[in-house]
Amino acid sequence: MRGRVTGTGSAVPEKVLTNFDIKKLVDTSDEWIVTRSGIKERRIASEGEFTSTFATRAALNALQMAGVTPEELDMIIVATVTPDFQFPSTACLVQSNIKAQNAAAFDVSAACSGFIYALSTADKFIRSGAVRKALVIGAEVLSRIVDWSDRNSCILFGDGAGAVVVEADSGDKGILDSMLKSDGSYWDLLYLPAPGSRNPASQKVLDERLMYLRMQGNDVFKLAVRAMEEAANQVLTAGGYSCDDIDLLVPHQANKRIIDAIGKRLGLPDEKVYVNLDRFGNTSAASIPIALDEANRTGRLHSGNLLLLDSFGGGLTWAAMSMIW
Ligand code: UT7
Repeated sequence: MRGRVTGTGSAVPEKVLTNFDIKKLVDTSDEWIVTRSGIKERRIASEGEFTSTFATRAALNALQMAGVTPEELDMIIVATVTPDFQFPSTACLVQSNIKAQNAAAFDVSAACSGFIYALSTADKFIRSGAVRKALVIGAEVLSRIVDWSDRNSCILFGDGAGAVVVEADSGDKGILDSMLKSDGSYWDLLYLPAPGSRNPASQKVLDERLMYLRMQGNDVFKLAVRAMEEAANQVLTAGGYSCDDIDLLVPHQANKRIIDAIGKRLGLPDEKVYVNLDRFGNTSAASIPIALDEANRTGRLHSGNLLLLDSFGGGLTWAAMSMIW
């Protein structure tokens, strides 16, 4: 028995923020952002829209595709670093919104690697026999923790959510292997200083702008390429596959230069690497499930394809997963 994705869904805000809009906020240019990151525009949540808003919409789309009702779900996992609240979990809010009263619901915090961490967790529960149908969501409203006066980071991020329904399957298709890795010694390369037990809400938090994410982008960049290559190779080798067997790589959409470097190191032609960050920016835990849903709905995935997911993010965390579609 293994987990098989039977439905995908996604939801992004309607509001588009282009590089030209960002140029009005900080000293930057469309040319710099496109050359350094590949991003042209991103979606930004409006007032009254939260992480659970997009998570819920993405979930309903995935459930509809899978033909699964909310009551049938045994588990809901939301990967996010921008939950609606510190607690309860965003997964509990989604559970309430979609009326999935029979599911256990919890969040996973592994930054941009969160979706693969969450999907791997669901797969392990399915393999143990404890869960038959799970809903796994990556959802973020990063625009609320981005410092819109910091040109080093604000150009990168966007909001949205993607979701998959995973069901127990005893056939040949589904999740083959996953590899999860972390190195907490790099925790301060990308983090949110407040609010938390180290920096609870205070005037100091506001004065020092501690409620906005801090990122040493260049250091993260260098570590990302090596780690994502390692994760991809390990997960392929575990299943007895090589890079030549990959039909589609869906990488975390952090930076086009990172994606190109991974594609090159794995020897993949451009058409085997899914890219949509030009339109959505880096949506952290949401980036892979949004890309997966797009790839699925636009006919880029075919039955029997070998699919590789590969990610890297704050923690530091990195992860890869192979599956037969
Ligand atoms: O999601 C997972 C975790 N996050 C990531 O994977 C992010 C990985 N990092 C990146 O994507 C890239 O590091 C960035 C796109 C964030 C930055 O690109 P970079 O090529 O690493 O630029 P840099 O930080 O090395 O900065 C180069 C120069 C600096 O100027 P000097 O010191 O060379 O004069 C920066 O001040 O570019 C300057 N700069 C900018 N210039 C115009 C930094 N941000 C901007 C900007 N517009 N927005």
